[in-house]
Amino acid sequence: MLNEPTFKNNIVTWFEKNQREMPWRETTNPYYIWLSEVMLQQTQVKTVIDYYHRFINRFPTVEALSNANEDEVLKYWEGLGYYSRARNFHTAIKEVEEKYNGEVPSSPDKFAQLKGVGPYTQAAVMSIAFNQPLATVDGNVFRVWSRLNNDKRDIKLQSTRKAYEQELQPYVQEEAGTFNQSMMELGALVCTPKNPICLFCPVQENCEAFKDGTVLELPVKTKKVSKKTKKQNVFLVRNSKGEYLIEKRQEKLLNGMWQFPMFEGADALKQLEEKLNVAVTIADERVFHLKHQFTHMTWDISVYSVIEDVDISLERFKGQLDWLNLNERHQYTLPVSMDKIYKFIVG
Ligand code: ADE
Repeated sequence: MLNEPTFKNNIVTWFEKNQREMPWRETTNPYYIWLSEVMLQQTQVKTVIDYYHRFINRFPTVEALSNANEDEVLKYWEGLGYYSRARNFHTAIKEVEEKYNGEVPSSPDKFAQLKGVGPYTQAAVMSIAFNQPLATVDGNVFRVWSRLNNDKRDIKLQSTRKAYEQELQPYVQEEAGTFNQSMMELGALVCTPKNPICLFCPVQENCEAFKDGTVLELPVKTKKVSKKTKKQNVFLVRNSKGEYLIEKRQEKLLNGMWQFPMFEGADALKQLEEKLNVAVTIADERVFHLKHQFTHMTWDISVYSVIEDVDISLERFKGQLDWLNLNERHQYTLPVSMDKIYKFIVG
């Protein structure tokens, strides 16, 4: 086990001198800290900063966000991906407004019951905003801690996470937020996956993997099963005003976001015809091809242009289908894959 006082002192002193400036490090508002932690899951700091500012300008308080409608919240998340994060956060904030009078609970147990709050978010928000003694374990912490201890347990196992949370307990009895952020910052700036800068590491003397020459072998993570690929077909259906048909997704993935009509499988065109109840003809061969990666899946998308001047009425599809005027793109929330197709259309 590490020498607790020198290790903690070394890493925290380094953090205090070397931490990056981040807007959420300038605030003690738990709602803002929570928002930043949700945005930072799966997304890099430099991408998050602009989104964070725009979001808190538009929804400056728990009350403001709880009164917003979901379409608008998604609009402010557009391009960040992993949209269920936004939906869950919105739901949780509404709960905070109703149940806790707009005050984010400072009790870890109460906080963990809110929608979308897992062990990482619980530890991060509770420690940074309220100094509660919980250790954050994210990808950076897995890497830093496994190297410090030369620990070869598989970090994909739930039992390893639990063990890490316990082993880190002694360091979060005081200054939990600062310690947790020091670990994550060290992982982001020094103890990086491929080219760690061990020469400048403030805790090199505490690092068992450095002594053993095993830094680059850690952490141990069992190989991911290969991702499923779904072959998708997107149809560009245009009316005589030059507007394009779009539909609102009803599936769990990207729920509530808009897409050009998309169908899976060999009978995709037939599915489109059935949906619209008109016969359509493909005008060109495939016009565009792209791949989009999700965590568990890849979409392999072929984009086809469908015969133009399809002037069907969308009366009976209100809220499900719409005509997109290319100049009014901002009125709709499109996932990144669909935004690429939009950009291809406008050139
Ligand atoms: N990654 C996610 N949250 C972080 C934080 N508060 N500090 C450093 N890295 C982080």
